[in-house]
Amino acid sequence: MRFRGFTIFVTGGAGFIGSAVVRHLLRDSDARVVNIDKLTYAANLDSLPGAAGNPHYAFEQTCICEAALLRRLFDKYQPDAVMNLAAESHVDRSIDGPGEFIRTNIVGTFTLLQEALRHWRRLPSERRARFRFLHVSTDEVFGSLGTEGSFSETTAYAPNSPYSASKASSDHLVRAWRETYELPTLVTNCSNNYGPYHFPEKLIPHMIIKGLADEPMPVYGDGSNVRDWLYVEDHARALSLVLERGAVGETYNVGGRNERTNLHVVEAICDLLDRIAPAFDGPRRRLISFVTDRPGHDRRYAIDASKLERELGWRAEENFETGIEKTVRWYVEQRAWWQAILGRGYDAERLGLIQTPASQPSREPAT
Ligand SMILES: NC(=O)c1ccc[n+]([C@@H]2O[C@H](COP(=O)([O-])OP(=O)(O)OC[C@H]3O[C@@H](n4cnc5c(N)ncnc54)[C@H](O)[C@@H]3O)[C@@H](O)[C@H]2O)c1
Repeated sequence: MRFRGFTIFVTGGAGFIGSAVVRHLLRDSDARVVNIDKLTYAANLDSLPGAAGNPHYAFEQTCICEAALLRRLFDKYQPDAVMNLAAESHVDRSIDGPGEFIRTNIVGTFTLLQEALRHWRRLPSERRARFRFLHVSTDEVFGSLGTEGSFSETTAYAPNSPYSASKASSDHLVRAWRETYELPTLVTNCSNNYGPYHFPEKLIPHMIIKGLADEPMPVYGDGSNVRDWLYVEDHARALSLVLERGAVGETYNVGGRNERTNLHVVEAICDLLDRIAPAFDGPRRRLISFVTDRPGHDRRYAIDASKLERELGWRAEENFETGIEKTVRWYVEQRAWWQAILGRGYDAERLGLIQTPASQPSREPAT
């Protein structure tokens, strides 16, 4: 079995992708997994069914900005690897309140790097040689594409939102800790993920839930923005592969070659819902409504994942059509999971619209 005798820290393991990574490692490897998560609004321990009773699993509610607490965890568990998925991840929230993105994504990554470095330097040579720090990032650091081309590992960074700028900063820190201190780091940059256990504010779960409730399905702008969609479990497999076999100091792009306009995604959800859970009032496409676009909305992302495919033999198992069907079915069948989130007071309000001083103050205090 893979990762026999390994202890792996997964930060953000109660989030969307982090929980997929924890489920994957517990199911398909021998690793002991320590989930380090602050439990922000985006976290949900219900996304880890069965984990709590698993002897290979431990959970620590800790913020990655807290150096002393992290140090205690490194000393207690003596990990062989860190997979850093703890982050503030929602672009619209970063427009309303960038401060938390700077803290977690930049200061948190810095703090984690420092504590990992301290731990790594104290390891015996054999364990020091196998230690890895895998930082999980996004294709949004590359900015926006025109109608042609795709992001490769050598594409220059050009982030456009507070979220992507904070992730770009953290990627640079990880690189610098490798170059300066020789900490064995790797970075992955992935395209948009979708799948089960996705927080209801993100496009796909939001639309499924709106469609099921027969409520308007709001599409930003004219819906022509293009994203390259990857099923979350394909991402989890890619991350464990990069951790296991990736070359230290390298970055790997992860993507499924599934470019779709946002409007296409929403229409596909409407048609699947009509098939799986028909509505009394007719086809769901009648619910689609176009709303004011997001400020600085990147037009198109597309990932060239050929390095990961060529060097590590990774392939996405799901294409968009198979993955979106699995996802819609999951939300239809697992209503209790997302209804509990709505029941905790999450109201799916529109975020990320910059307010003028005359209308309403921004949530972020002026500095
Ligand atoms: N979702 C995507 O489509 C996507 C695509 C590419 C890359 N990524 C990257 O993958 C990573 C995970 O994304 P996600 O979609 O799972 O995010 P998420 O928002 O669903 O989960 C983030 C998790 O991190 C935890 N967290 C936040 N701040 C923390 C802190 N200070 N200390 C400890 N834990 C903290 C949260 O409680 C939550 O459980 C992020 O780094 C993100 O940038 C996401």
